[in-house]
Amino acid sequence: MSGSDGAMLDVSNLWVGFPSYGEQTHHALKGVDLRIAPGEMIGLVGESGSGKTTLARAIMGLVPPPGVVEKGRVLFAGRDLTALGDEARRAVLGRELAMVIPNPRAELNPVLPVGRQISNVAFYHLGVSRKEADRIALDMLRAVRIPDPERRFAAYPHELSGGMAQRVVIAIALVCWPRLVISDDATSGLDVTVQSQVLDLLQTMVREKQAATLFITRDIAITAHFCARIAIIYAGEIVEVADTRSFFTRPHHPYSIMLLAAFSHNPALRARWTRTEAAGGVATGGCAFAPRCVRRQPRCTQEAPVLRQMAAGHDVRCHFPVDAAA
Ligand SMILES: Nc1ncnc2c1ncn2[C@@H]1O[C@H](COP(=O)(O)OP(=O)(O)OP(=O)(O)O)[C@@H](O)[C@H]1O
Ligand code: SF4
Ligand SMILES: [Mg+2]
Repeated sequence: MSGSDGAMLDVSNLWVGFPSYGEQTHHALKGVDLRIAPGEMIGLVGESGSGKTTLARAIMGLVPPPGVVEKGRVLFAGRDLTALGDEARRAVLGRELAMVIPNPRAELNPVLPVGRQISNVAFYHLGVSRKEADRIALDMLRAVRIPDPERRFAAYPHELSGGMAQRVVIAIALVCWPRLVISDDATSGLDVTVQSQVLDLLQTMVREKQAATLFITRDIAITAHFCARIAIIYAGEIVEVADTRSFFTRPHHPYSIMLLAAFSHNPALRARWTRTEAAGGVATGGCAFAPRCVRRQPRCTQEAPVLRQMAAGHDVRCHFPVDAAA
């Protein structure tokens, strides 16, 4: 079952703050709205410190202290995750909601064969017999296309390559067929070929099981292939959200275009979208991107832009969005 309007995950007006003594609370998320449909993979892209992991943690109900969810709602299949008690949340985590993070070796138990690690998750969460759990685990090793799965079942993590270990982590995350998968920078340590194989696989599996996927990355280029939609986050705010095609053919936010230009081999394009001179005073309440924005105008530092629709399914937070394709 999903929410009343078909979203598997529906985050609305989510605020997360990190209070610090003697200073103002740092708002890591400032009113984030995000919806993901079953079977949909949405890419969340933003630079370091923009709030991606904080959003992932807030969805899972695991904001690290002293951080707090200050406002907002996280509906998962129609249930408000922010209102669940610890026990109810534990029952949902792992079974219906799974997270894939980088550094697979740190995730895996070094002294337990990898097949058994997958099998344990099935055994504890699905209430099946040990034999059945082992069978499910072997199926998962096949599904994530580990060669010679019968033999690999008994392998220890150090006997696997980084790509194979990441596949095992994905197998663990997906063994209970969760309805929401969050991948937080999970493939960034892998080489490009292995990375696209692992992502292909993740994409096939989430489609097959109609899971909703939040794919977090700093690499905007990779989302073009694997995500149906893209959300760009800057300083705790979604600044642009669109269908992948619409986003890549006609990006509107100056920050999105700056990110895209950074991948271009054309230095003139990069220079055109990168502001080099000093920011000048930015009034609180203005656009957070103003100090770095090449299109900044006086209104930008006086009034915060709101997210508004530029085209069907394409929303942008900017007073002076770019109209033409970059
Ligand atoms: N435990 C914490 N205590 C205080 N501030 C924190 C804490 N965790 C995150 N923050 C702050 O919240 C903001 C968002 O951090 P977050 O880790 O979500 O960024 P990110 O987009 O995941 O970055 P990266 O790409 O480097 O993983 C940052 O300004 C960070 O300093
Ligand atoms: S509101 Fe102004 S400063 Fe902010 S991104 Fe748009 S043009 Fe740039
Ligand atoms: Mg992070």
